[in-house]
This record gives sequence, C-alpha cells and structure tokens, in this order.
Amino acid sequence: GPARRGEGRLGRVDFTPVPPNRRDAVVVPPGFRQDVVVRWGDPVLPGAPAFDAYRQTPEAAARQFGFNNDYVGLVELPRRSDRDRALLVVNHEYTTGTLMFPTGRYDAETQLRIEMQSHGMSVVTVERGQVAGSWRRVTPARARHNRRVTIDTAFRVTGPAAGDPRLRTAADPTGRRVLGTLNNCAGGTTPWGTVLSGEENVNQYFDASDGIPAEHAESFARYGITGEGRGWSAVDPRFDLSTEPHEAYRFGWIVELDPLSPGSAPRKHTMLGRFKHEGANISIARNGRAVAYLGDDERGDYLYKFVSRDRYDDSGRPRARAHNKTLLEHGTLFVARLTGDGTADGVYDGTGTWLPLTSDTTSYVPGMSVADVLLNTRLAADRRSPTRMDRPEDVEPNPVNGRVYAALTNNSGRGTAQPADEANPVTSSQTRPALGEPLVTQSGNRNGYVLELIPRGGDHASTTFTWNVLLVCGDPAAQETYFGGYDKSRVSPISCPDNVTFDPQGNLWVSTDGNVLGSNDGIFRVPVSGAERGRVQQFVTVPRGAEACGPLVTDGGRSLFFAVQHPGEITGATFEAPASTWPHTDDFPRPSVVVAYRSR
Ligand code: FEO
Ligand code: CA
Ligand code: CA
Ligand code: CA
Repeated sequence: GPARRGEGRLGRVDFTPVPPNRRDAVVVPPGFRQDVVVRWGDPVLPGAPAFDAYRQTPEAAARQFGFNNDYVGLVELPRRSDRDRALLVVNHEYTTGTLMFPTGRYDAETQLRIEMQSHGMSVVTVERGQVAGSWRRVTPARARHNRRVTIDTAFRVTGPAAGDPRLRTAADPTGRRVLGTLNNCAGGTTPWGTVLSGEENVNQYFDASDGIPAEHAESFARYGITGEGRGWSAVDPRFDLSTEPHEAYRFGWIVELDPLSPGSAPRKHTMLGRFKHEGANISIARNGRAVAYLGDDERGDYLYKFVSRDRYDDSGRPRARAHNKTLLEHGTLFVARLTGDGTADGVYDGTGTWLPLTSDTTSYVPGMSVADVLLNTRLAADRRSPTRMDRPEDVEPNPVNGRVYAALTNNSGRGTAQPADEANPVTSSQTRPALGEPLVTQSGNRNGYVLELIPRGGDHASTTFTWNVLLVCGDPAAQETYFGGYDKSRVSPISCPDNVTFDPQGNLWVSTDGNVLGSNDGIFRVPVSGAERGRVQQFVTVPRGAEACGPLVTDGGRSLFFAVQHPGEITGATFEAPASTWPHTDDFPRPSVVVAYRSR
C-alpha cells in the first residue's frame, strides 16, 4: 500500500530481532533491506583506477576507499540543489596484510606502502536511492567533495601544545604540521558540520626496538609505545623512535576534518588531550559552550570531557562556521571520577565528578605544564585518581534526553589488575565457546556494559553528574546480566558494546566488537525511557570475523548506516583461505559501508 507518514522510521517500527548466528552475511530483520554503499578499493577520487587485488599500488590506494572502515558520519551539503546528496565521512582504522594481498604477490616494501595509504579517512558523496532510506555512492567524476586523507595529508596542529618542542621533528621544526592520521577509530559529527575522528592505537606504528631517549621512557611506557612497530620504520624513518622520538607525540589526538572544504587542512586538536582516543562527540551546553565527550580505550583507562571557552554561534552568519571551527582550541579538559552509593539499593549507580586537568592557560596538575598535561594526558590524569574503567569506547550524548551513554567494551582484568567498584562491578562473566554450547564462567568483565551519565541539571557544562549502569551485557540467561530492569526473557544477547548512536526518538543504538557468546557481532536498538527501557533487540548481524562499527541513524530515521570492519579476520585466515568472502563480489572479503532501510 501507499507509504504512510512515519512508516519505516527505525526508532518507531516493530521488528523481529535477528537471532544470534554465524552466517557469512549481513542479516537484517524481515521487512528491511541492506545495500553495500562503498567497499575497500572502490574509487573515491576522479581518475582512480578500478580495484584489482592483484594489481594494487600505493598510488591507486591513495585514491581508493581505504581498508577497515570504522566511523561513519553523514554531512549535509548546504546547497538546495544538493538536497538529495550528502557526504559520507569514514575512518580507515588499520590494515591486515594477510587479508589484503595474495600471498607472495608483492614485495614487502610495496605491501607496506599500500597499507600506509589504506589508512586515514575517506569522504564519499552519496545520493538517495529509489526506495526511501536507501543511498548509493555517486561516481567520483560527479563528486567534487570526494577526498582521501592519507599518511601524506598535511594536518595543522592547534591548541596550547601546538609548536611544543616535543612536537618538533627534523621534517617539521615548527611542531605544527603533521603528515597523516593513524588508527582512526570512532568519531563524531559536530553541530557545525565537521567530523571528529579519534587516533586510537597509534603506539603500534612506532619502532622502539633500537632504544628510545630516557626522557621519553615514562611516557612511552604509559602509552604502550614499546614494540617494534609494523615495519613502517623501514619505509619511512620517522617511525623509528631511536632517531625521531617526537614523532610519537604527533599521533594520539582528536582530528577534525571539514568535508565541505575539500582543500582545507584537517586539524589535530591538542586541547582535547592525547591518549588512545576512541572518538569525540559534541553537545552544546545550555551556556553555549561546546562539550566533547571522550574515551580512552585501554583496560583501566578513563572517561574524559572537554568544555570550550567560547560559545557556539548558531546564528548562521557568514563568520559563524569559521568561529565554530575554533571551539576545540580553547577550554578545559576534565577526567571522570565515579563514586558508587552502595549496592544495597540493588542498582549499580552513584555520583560523579569531572576533575579538571588543564585549561588552555592553567594546568590543574601540580608539576605539569599545560603542554605536559595535553601531551601526556594519561600521566596527568593518573595524578587525579579518576576511575579506572573497562575500556571506554564511544561516549555520546543523547540529543533527546540529554543523558550521556558510554560503551565500556570489556576488561578481562577487572577483579584482578583492576579491583571492582560499583561503576565497574563485573569480575566474573559468562561466555559461550560456540553457538549452541553451554555458557561457561570466566574471570573479569567479558561482555562489557553501557553506562548512563546524567549531567547535573541536564547541563553538559556541569562538573558533577549521577550515573547508573544501564546494561550489564551478556547472555540474558547469565546471572550477572542486567538490561535496565527490562524482562530478561525478552531481550537479545549482547556482548562487547563499542559504538553508540541515537535515533530521532532517542533510542540508543549499539554496535559490538568481539562478541564472546558464539555469535557474529552486530547492532542493537535499545529504548532508554519508559516501559521499554533496556529492551535490547538485535537489528543487524555482520559477517564472520567482522565487527560492526559506526552505526548512524539518519535521514529522519529512515536509514541506518554502518561499517562492516575486518570481515573474515579470524586467527589463521589468509587472502587465499579467508573466513569470509563478504560482500561476495570477490573471492576474498572487503570491508564495506552498508545502509539498511525498510523495504515495505
Ligand atoms: Fe578501535 Fe576502541 O576500538
Ligand atoms: Ca547503588
Ligand atoms: Ca571502536
Ligand atoms: Ca573496538
């Protein structure tokens, strides 16, 4: 019959949850469809060659869609004539050579150079398809905003630490111009139409095996910059810390890309601190300040937030956008301490404080300068005794209810390396070795949880909040699990929450990475208010070996974009013997961005 208003809105529709499965497919509920929008290797820039796994070159990779798509943002174009188009902005977190290259086909250096160019970000123009909620990519020749950000793209360093001696290298004596961005994980789209991206596990790119200067030892140890790297130092000496130790300080930031300005230099914002940034999500506080919520994804690391000095300008005046693009350069960086109120009330909950670390002019950490705090944020935070969390992933404010949701993905060391507390209560959890097998008990927090933070007075600029553990993830049959008080016999199992987003009704959407219940990873819808609060329902499963990333409900709630990252990545898998061939356009897997929508 004819489409009715509101039909197909993902926040409103009833759907039959996708059951746990091990299929080599993207599975969505009956009545929905999903299309691949863009795959690893698809041309992004005009003139880019068609992808050929057997004839890859670094030059081609720099013009094609990168590997291992993670964050997915969608930015509207300002012109009315472009209203059926938008810019998809995607992170490329890391590469896995054994899944990218036919064995023995390329020499080691060529392979590394291709991998280096397959990192970074992509901007891909998309347009609406025939069915409401569907989207497809626009051919590069018709897409003037398309862009690849690679290891060679020049970034401008902003904020108080820009130009610090520790950011200066032989290639950049100013300490203000960095080539490339690495390990871009999650992110956020700002109210002013730019995209923030978190440089996460950047430690893995640097070679410390030839020794490091003693003055950097404490910092590098705290950041895990202790290994041999990924061989990149053989191709580019800046990744050799024995000769260029400062290069490591030039990564681990939140970067900001303006997709509407394809020629503009993206920026690295020192004011938001340096750690294993999962991502950054902005809310505008009541007083007009931009507030960014941040997570440091490491076992026992911290939740952070930034509050800008200056106010967001929503006037639409010509200069407003340029002003808003400076908001992340001045302000105050905080780290979170959570205090439980005891478990006698039957709920994991309590109060919290945002502890200031530094403003752009004043450090609040004795013995550390502003730049010290921003360059070695973990060391600074350690001195304020914040709460050690179970791997903070996405932290995002819900625009409907004003509360903030943090995915804490897991922590095998909870109860041992880190003692339990009320905000990190799980020291024993049930997992499933394989689908259909019984649950087994393991130490630590294996399935993760979702934390709900409630800023005092609903004010994101407030330095205090209350909190509760909304979801203790896992199989609902496991004793330790908790689904916001909802009936556990009526929810989907969920394991290892990673990215979060919201639909226009304010429902939480959660994607997972590392499911230990025997099923593929996926995406879940979770109401957070009313009688349905905590009703976890699985909406997507992704193929074998993949994690689900970057869910984004957009287009008035008609479209769910998400990234299928590392399909087929299981131990021992190779290009010739993959664990997946999704999206089934080749005989090897290709990380891809997908859009799901109502088909009837
Ligand atoms: Fe790249 Fe924390 O996930
Ligand atoms: Ca309590
Ligand atoms: Ca992630
Ligand atoms: Ca993850």
